Amino acid sequence: MALPESFLQDLRLRNPISDVVSSYVNLKRAGRNMVGLCPFHNEKTPSFTVYTATDSFYCFGCGCGGEVITFIRKIENLDYIDAVKFLAQRCGMQMPEFAVDDSLGKLRIRIFEANRAAAKFFNNYLYSPGGKKGLDYLKNRGLSDSTIKHFGLGFAPENTYELNKYLINCGFTEFELEQANLAFKSSRTNRLVDRFIDRVIYPMIDLRGNVIAFAGRTLNKTDKAKYINTSDTPVFKKSENLFALNYAKNTKEKQIILVEGYMDVISLHQAGIENTVACMGTSLTKEHAQLLSRYCEEVVLCFDSDNAGSKATQRSIEILRQANIPIRIIRIPGNKDPDEFLNADKATGAEKFKALIEKSRNDIEYKLSLLRQGVDLSEPSAKVSFLTEAAKIIAGIDNSVEADVYCGKLCKELEVEKASMLQLVNKYRSRYRSDAKRKQLRFIQTEDTRPDSLNPDRNKRLKAAKAEESLITYIFGNPDKIGEISKRISSDDFVTEFNGRIFACISEKLLSGGTLSLTDIAGKFSVEENSRIAFMANRLPGDLASANECVDIILSEKKKQSLSSTPNAGDDDILNYINSIKKGKQ
Ligand code: CTP
Ligand code: MN
Repeated sequence: MALPESFLQDLRLRNPISDVVSSYVNLKRAGRNMVGLCPFHNEKTPSFTVYTATDSFYCFGCGCGGEVITFIRKIENLDYIDAVKFLAQRCGMQMPEFAVDDSLGKLRIRIFEANRAAAKFFNNYLYSPGGKKGLDYLKNRGLSDSTIKHFGLGFAPENTYELNKYLINCGFTEFELEQANLAFKSSRTNRLVDRFIDRVIYPMIDLRGNVIAFAGRTLNKTDKAKYINTSDTPVFKKSENLFALNYAKNTKEKQIILVEGYMDVISLHQAGIENTVACMGTSLTKEHAQLLSRYCEEVVLCFDSDNAGSKATQRSIEILRQANIPIRIIRIPGNKDPDEFLNADKATGAEKFKALIEKSRNDIEYKLSLLRQGVDLSEPSAKVSFLTEAAKIIAGIDNSVEADVYCGKLCKELEVEKASMLQLVNKYRSRYRSDAKRKQLRFIQTEDTRPDSLNPDRNKRLKAAKAEESLITYIFGNPDKIGEISKRISSDDFVTEFNGRIFACISEKLLSGGTLSLTDIAGKFSVEENSRIAFMANRLPGDLASANECVDIILSEKKKQSLSSTPNAGDDDILNYINSIKKGKQ
């Protein structure tokens, strides 16, 4: 449902984009605009620009952009209406009554309610005779009643229909239960079947206290999947949520500990180490890293010491480095996971774990120690190849003081000249730099030929698309000229569908007497589409003559398009087409 324009205007005026962005990004004035380091990608020189004239932003590094609502959608991971609510709350505005009435928003609320009812059901069932095996299992793993309550753990019945029967009785519809991924339609019987059957249940709670998903652990050794998780739903994306972050974010610790398993998290919380989270059935993503960077100053990785855990550690190091988050790594002795380590000695487990955190090494030390494993340093050639690989790792450190410290330490230990080691490090460093430069150059040069997912027609009809984009830029800069332009061209004349949609939206708005601000139209486009629109709106517009040239180009490209597609049409059309070619040749 569209929000009233007067409301959106008020919202924009009371949330100046530079104020809103400033609470996330350190902005510096640059002429009329402001610049800062982009919060959406990793960069060292600012390419993120806030335009005060258009109340919008654009980053030349990663191509993200938009107005204030799109900024909040992206940085707070919210959908359109929730971003509007966020901003309304920020400046103390009341939301229009009916705005809460949008259908996706309604469905999300129903899913939250269904999930909450399901969580209660699972928890009650845990304490019923049917759930006894689940309760015994959790107790056997050392969990107290208060921990079970704290995490709202439960048990899903063996009976395939038990939960959905109960929820339908509570008034939820089959559609809502399917959307929540609590149940699905069996293709064989056409009956609704529960997603979680005969499993211990771990609910996931988001940062606002909503139940957003579940994990279910089987107790049967023969089951193929030890855990199953809720798939992505309108309220849950596994790549963007972390288990127990709702609790971890409230601790005063500067660090957050990232572990592999749900049980690891629960045991650590029970032991008083509540700054612990886990991914939910996926490996660490960029979005997770961004989320973590908002709630801690350093991430401590504590994955299992097996092969898979070590691979996950290395992958996570790269992602966290990209997000500029300092990293420490704990390796638990004796091939145990954190849960087993704590339970091995209940009395001292927590203290011992804290000691491991104290002693944990950063990512460079970790990588160097991995490299050193099993190398016989008394063997000259092995020592040389170890040092060469070590130089590559050290060359990857941006901070030269830090790099110097590691170099010094290593050289002292292995009795080599620091100067020659530094030389090697510098060689790799300049190689990395020129690689990065080349990559950047290639990025710029190939920009126009890369497939364009927003506007798939763009590359096939580049000439037309560029003219369309210039025309849109012109109108943003000269909204008073819409009358003149729209006498010559309408959105139907546009060659590419995406640009046509933008033109339709802004011309309709202007022709009906409205003003044109990006905020007014943001609700009609996705976050990525808004980025592209912000790019067009913030370029320098040409003059009326060049805008008219753009119109000419678009119209003639459109004609070409309709001619070349005619052979697929009816016989009469083909005849006309052939005639028109003949005429053209005369
Ligand atoms: N996982 C998953 N799906 C699976 C297996 C694992 O989502 N089929 C995820 C879960 O988040 C799980 C984590 O990977 O907690 C680690 O898996 P694993 O080491 O196999 O389990 P543990 O955490 O040791 O589980 P438990 O202690 O319950 O045996
Ligand atoms: Mn385990």
